[in-house]
Amino acid sequence: MSNHSLRTYESILELLPDADNPTPIVRLQRVTGFQHAKVYAKLEWYNPFGAVKDRVAANLIRDAEERGEELRNLVEPTSGNTGIGLAMVANAKNYGFSATLSKAVPFEKRAALRIFGTDLVELDDDLCPMPGQPEGAMNKAAELGERPGWKQLNQYANPANPDAHYRTTGPEIWRQTGGEVTHFVAALGTCGTITGTGRFLKEQNPDVQVIGVHPTQGHDIPGVRSRRALVVTDFFRPEEYDAVVEIDDDTAYALCRRLHLEESIIAGPSGALALAGALQTVPDEPGVIAVVTFPDNAYKYISSFQRHLPDLFPPEPAAASQPPANPFGIHLENAFALAKKGPDVVGPAEAARRQAEGSLLVDVRNPDEVARVQAIGSLTLPLPEISEGSLAGLPEDRDAPILTICAAGTRSLYALLLLKAQGYRNVTSVDGGMGAWVEAGLPTG
Ligand SMILES: Cc1ncc(COP(=O)(O)O)c(C=O)c1O
Repeated sequence: MSNHSLRTYESILELLPDADNPTPIVRLQRVTGFQHAKVYAKLEWYNPFGAVKDRVAANLIRDAEERGEELRNLVEPTSGNTGIGLAMVANAKNYGFSATLSKAVPFEKRAALRIFGTDLVELDDDLCPMPGQPEGAMNKAAELGERPGWKQLNQYANPANPDAHYRTTGPEIWRQTGGEVTHFVAALGTCGTITGTGRFLKEQNPDVQVIGVHPTQGHDIPGVRSRRALVVTDFFRPEEYDAVVEIDDDTAYALCRRLHLEESIIAGPSGALALAGALQTVPDEPGVIAVVTFPDNAYKYISSFQRHLPDLFPPEPAAASQPPANPFGIHLENAFALAKKGPDVVGPAEAARRQAEGSLLVDVRNPDEVARVQAIGSLTLPLPEISEGSLAGLPEDRDAPILTICAAGTRSLYALLLLKAQGYRNVTSVDGGMGAWVEAGLPTG
């Protein structure tokens, strides 16, 4: 039934691009200022989940499946787009997915991950994860990936990342330009795009010029890395590129706005960064055909545009009349922090011992999470239901011993506070949740 020309598909995953179903390339008409050279924007938000990284997510998972890896729960440190791609491919294949990421990642991306079902592990980290920091997103993902049934696919070192572009982005561009492409330009993050696409294009024609573009240190462009921060990825291979260019934030955001206004291209900032690099390096000569990758569109970056184009965002007059934030919220946060360190939290081994002695183990995760792995003998009562006052399945006796458990130990603490508010006097939360339970080798079903 699937048919590219009719755009009819049996599965969303068939929308993933390849040479027969490429993402579009669109010639830029006004912003280049060139007389002769043609510059095409490759619009990667035409991927099924909205970004260039969908290619990588699908290929990382395909590769792991083909190698026979156990893929019950995937974990990846990601600033957003890889996470969204992995979340959606994982959903389509019924795998679990957790993302470790910095709290500095734009709100829009973190919200999208949550909406798409990702378990977020948020950390005080730089905008792009760096190894070696004690609580860094990369270290945390590596640690979680060691648990039984968990797997970190590791886009920074897994050859399936550049391979995704070698298999798809490169052949698409070659075919879309009739083999006449002379320059390929991409912004640098993990460097999967530039290295994989560049390798394919240079194999077809060694004269194709491959140009990488990175932001300045301390930049504010999500998804890309400054020259120094590129050390974390195995795929930054400057010896394979013909030029590496640095572009500052102001230049990128100003060009991004011109793309919106003069080309009607809804580019996100990293595409504009790449284009700015292209405009500095591509010669305006007859026969030049440059293709620039536009990783995703503007909608995830409203807060970034707000910072860099403040004139577009005058203060909202309605803001003054909005109700103030709950001034007592801080006390709930403090209660939570104190409870976490308090006497009502035990490790999984102690919890299992208490369960054997008659404590009721209440799993407060959502049913789809429980379906993947569950402690034997537990009762399922999701946190949102407890929060709405449900005590379904709990004993009447307010002195009955109850243990709460979730994925990692956060929701179970909220459940503990809620159950105590309902009068239960003997509630204990399981530290580290089902992750620690499974790691400790305790019984699951
Ligand atoms: C918005 C955005 N731009 C650029 C890139 C860089 O692509 P790559 O990781 O292939 O170098 C990414 C990668 O995540 C991205 O999300």
